[in-house]
Amino acid sequence: MRKVLYLFLIMAVVMMLGGQALAQTYVVGTSADFPPFEYMEDGEFVGFDMDLMRAIAEEMDFEIEFRDISFDSLIPGLRTGTIDIVIAAMTITEERARAVDFSDPYYVANQSIIVREDSGFNLTVLFGDNRIGAQTGTTGDLWVTEELYDEGILTGRVVRYETFDLAIEDLVNENVEALVLDRPVAERFVEARPLVLVGEIITHEEYGIAVDRGNEELLAKINEGLEKVVDSGRMGELIDKYFE
Ligand code: ARG
Repeated sequence: MRKVLYLFLIMAVVMMLGGQALAQTYVVGTSADFPPFEYMEDGEFVGFDMDLMRAIAEEMDFEIEFRDISFDSLIPGLRTGTIDIVIAAMTITEERARAVDFSDPYYVANQSIIVREDSGFNLTVLFGDNRIGAQTGTTGDLWVTEELYDEGILTGRVVRYETFDLAIEDLVNENVEALVLDRPVAERFVEARPLVLVGEIITHEEYGIAVDRGNEELLAKINEGLEKVVDSGRMGELIDKYFE
């Protein structure tokens, strides 16, 4: 009798372990400097993207683990396999789509220009001998570089930052005259700091979740999960929570 009991006990433990092993864990890379999409609060990853990714994982029965990585290292991280998924308010661009695969779009945004409140600058700050900051490798960086600097419209400098926290500090401390970044994020920063938004650039960028090129199985799970999050009304709740 006792033997049978032990046997059951062992079987139960094995089944429990087996059940756990079934739930796959994916490493999710982000650049946690971009409120309200991704930022750190008391050592936790918070924001719209973070909640969205958690909701997708829940719908599709997989586990996730977030990693904070500089924005321009996210795509290389997918390529080398140090991370499996990227969610970072990342715009779907043709160039990026040559290296990685994107989910269906989940958000649309424009670029914008912010300056110090007391500086008297307006959007003409972009034309002439000024220092314009952007996060390295972002669409804001590319826009300033290709449309303004390379064209000789901006005759000053493009200053590139690994994280937006550093960029904002430099703007406040008068080390650059303006920053170019996604509008929803700019709005967050101007609420919190002595900064003001002076212009919008209509780029109509669609954000997507990225996986390594050719990882069709994972991409399908993400798209299915995304659809479920939208259909269940959870997406609407997240929009209300972060963008009302
Ligand atoms: N949407 C822009 C891009 O894809 C900026 C994204 C920056 N994201 C971040 N988490 N810092 O280039």
